[in-house]
Amino acid sequence: MKILSGSKQWITAVVLLMSTFLLCGISQALDRSELVSIIKTIPPNGPFWKYGTLEMRRRAKKAGMPAVVFAHWSHRARYTCRVCHEELGFSMRAGDTGISRSQYVAGKYCGACHDGVTAFTVQEGVVRHCDKCHMKDTKELQKQFEEFAGDLPFATFGNGIDWSEAIKNGSIRPQNALTSEKSIVQLPEKLKLPMKLGTAAPRSDVTFSHEEHFFELDCSACHPDIFNIKKKGTKAFTMENNIYGNYCGVCHMRVAFPMNDCKRCHSQMTGNSSPK
Ligand code: HEC
Ligand code: HEC
Ligand code: HEC
Ligand code: HEC
Ligand code: HEC
Ligand code: HEC
Repeated sequence: MKILSGSKQWITAVVLLMSTFLLCGISQALDRSELVSIIKTIPPNGPFWKYGTLEMRRRAKKAGMPAVVFAHWSHRARYTCRVCHEELGFSMRAGDTGISRSQYVAGKYCGACHDGVTAFTVQEGVVRHCDKCHMKDTKELQKQFEEFAGDLPFATFGNGIDWSEAIKNGSIRPQNALTSEKSIVQLPEKLKLPMKLGTAAPRSDVTFSHEEHFFELDCSACHPDIFNIKKKGTKAFTMENNIYGNYCGVCHMRVAFPMNDCKRCHSQMTGNSSPK
């Protein structure tokens, strides 16, 4: 929730805007200038490289080491979410995994890949790579981002990258499992059709596609912790709760394209949702 601190003002603005929607019906034309002024103030509008980039400092600081900087953008281009959040057991709540040096040196968490074969090693040795993770500053990482993002399809928010499109057009090919033994379950036939959401009254025009998410995520990423598995079973499924980082906002305020990008979920919304 740290990204949301000190942001009561825009929450109020968004809630006001939504009340307008409720009165007019969602598919009616938006007051464009009003919408643009509101979404410009929504917090995830930081520099593109910073979206989904986490600073891990609690333990490092105690040990007198610089904070560790973990960039989702570089890692998700190589691996799907399920590799880290299912197979390797990283939590989707910042700080929640509680990674210690003894764990990753033994090959858990970051150490599963940073072993000197797949990626630079976490081990002590003649060549030490400590400062590649325990960064004194992020200049190098920012430079790396510019090069990385250059050729990828553009989106207005988040990382400034349309990740779905990048996968579809083959510009990135994230690996789906670290170990080849891991079998990937099939998406049941009846979940292939996009489903209409609508727990909040009146209903919005949002549909949810299991198929679009299945490429990156297993069922357990969402059920039962984030969403009730019963259709329309999710309680208090409002935009406000989403913006506070619940439900869709668990991912769509932190790593996947943020809630600012109205049209990607509300496909029938009219008006220009992109501030130019
Ligand atoms: C290479 C590993 C890796 C991959 C791939 C990965 N993550 Fe993460 N993710 C992490 C780590 C590490 C954390 C921080 C965990 C901690 O602090 O305990 C994290 C944290 C998160 C958080 C919480 C962030 C916050 O600010 O609170 C979300 C949400 C998340 N990941 C979603 C995703 C999604 C969605 C994908 C796929 C698009 C993904 N992750 C891919 C390793 C990964
Ligand atoms: C699933 C495999 C995997 C996991 C897990 C993983 N990494 Fe990486 N990481 C890589 C690969 C591959 C590279 C790029 C190769 C290289 O630079 O040697 C990389 C590169 C990096 C870089 C260089 C800058 C960048 O972002 O490209 C940093 C910093 C980094 N990882 C930090 C971490 C931290 C911190 C963790 C644990 C919280 C972690 N990684 C977990 C595979 C992984
Ligand atoms: C692949 C990334 C990576 C590399 C390389 C790395 N570390 Fe870490 N280190 C981490 C992460 C992640 C944490 C946990 C950060 C936190 O939560 O504060 C950590 C924490 C630590 C801590 C505190 C851990 C504890 O258990 O209390 C020490 C000490 C440490 N690292 C030393 C080193 C040294 C020395 C090196 C080089 C030989 C090194 N690290 C290389 C990722 C890395
Ligand atoms: C990641 C997907 C996503 C994005 C992006 C998104 N919404 Fe929503 N929105 C939802 C969901 C889910 C609901 C609730 C669905 C339901 O129960 O009908 C919703 C509901 C709403 C409602 C109905 C009232 C309510 O609170 O339930 C309004 C109005 C609304 N959104 C406006 C917006 C605006 C304005 C933006 C851009 C700033 C936006 N949405 C971006 C997913 C999204
Ligand atoms: C990215 C999040 C996400 C993932 C991953 C996910 N689901 Fe869902 N699922 C949802 C949402 C959102 C709903 C609608 C909840 C509501 O309406 O309250 C839903 C609803 C369902 C329903 C009810 C559908 C109906 O028509 O009655 C079933 C069954 C279901 N999911 C099964 C699965 C299975 C099996 C998987 C893995 C193959 C899976 N889900 C993966 C988010 C997800
Ligand atoms: C567990 C994480 C997670 C949750 C929860 C989640 N999503 Fe997503 N979603 C993703 C990722 C990752 C992508 C790939 C695109 C990206 O990262 O920007 C994605 C893609 C999408 C896309 C495709 C966009 C496009 O242009 O192709 C839509 C639409 C979408 N999500 C809507 C929703 C809605 C609505 C909800 C809530 C009902 C939701 N998502 C919940 C992770 C999540």
